[in-house]
Amino acid sequence: MEATKFIWFDGDLIPWDQATVHVLSHGLHYGTGVFEGIRVYDTPKGSAVFRLADHMRRLVGSAKAFRIPLRWSVEDLCAAARDLVRANGLPAVYLRPIVFLGTGSLGLNPAGAGVHTAIGSWVWGAYLGAEGVEKGIRARVSSWRRVGHEAMVPNAKGTGQYVNSVLAKQEAIAGGYDEALLLNTAGYVVEGSGENLFLVRDGVVSTPTTSMGALAGITRDTLMTLLRDEGYDVSETAVTRADLYYADEAFFTGTAAEVTPIREIDDRAVGSGGVGPVTRRAQEMFRAVVTGALEPYAHWLDYV
Ligand SMILES: Cc1ncc(COP(=O)(O)O)c(C=O)c1O
Repeated sequence: MEATKFIWFDGDLIPWDQATVHVLSHGLHYGTGVFEGIRVYDTPKGSAVFRLADHMRRLVGSAKAFRIPLRWSVEDLCAAARDLVRANGLPAVYLRPIVFLGTGSLGLNPAGAGVHTAIGSWVWGAYLGAEGVEKGIRARVSSWRRVGHEAMVPNAKGTGQYVNSVLAKQEAIAGGYDEALLLNTAGYVVEGSGENLFLVRDGVVSTPTTSMGALAGITRDTLMTLLRDEGYDVSETAVTRADLYYADEAFFTGTAAEVTPIREIDDRAVGSGGVGPVTRRAQEMFRAVVTGALEPYAHWLDYV
């Protein structure tokens, strides 16, 4: 990761190197924080943040779910993100807002711990590799189960629950795969370690429901909308492991991963092992939308 000039920290733009936290911060010890990932795209009309308010609304919702008192409104956070992008002067970046508990208490009752809010930004290319975007990646079903509704708040982006994703990702990489696919405790397929999953079979598109434990991904919502508008039948459903093996096409969606085809799951080719037509069309539409080339979706872009 290459440093950028500024980080927005509790209301001020401060130099990158000065954006530090105390080692006795509650969030460091217990994972008591919530975060977002947002992309800023370089468009012919200048830098545009993709679905900024939707991301900040999800951040506020995550903070509420984890009972973290956040003093900034969605509007404040959107303004902070825009200020940061302008100050750093880079046309296309990844934004990482985080709200976490600081010092003041290290009991499990966090009352008394301060609350900090920061937004960092840096240039982040294709999360699963440029070749992955072009040719597809290899995924495996993880031995780790996705944290579920019975243990945490899987629809929120809580920092602590990402240890689950880290374990799954490390296992996949160690085994020679690019990404993990996590099942829930009932054995249904939920999502990747940091991406939502889509399958295509006989021209019908499906994605696991959020009730299974999947994050209500903003890219997922974007692709459901785009594919439906394109005339595809798109359903949110229960996805079994067998569905993975019978799919004609599979792809991941996420702010970091954007639309990344999956060419192999558990050492079985997905379809013919190439990138299928629905996935390719999804990639094309997504690219057109984030770069401002599709007018009906211009409201998703927030120019800075
Ligand atoms: C576990 C998980 N699922 C799905 C996603 C995709 O969500 P989004 O498209 O909002 O980035 C992410 C990334 O934020 C994630 O961490």
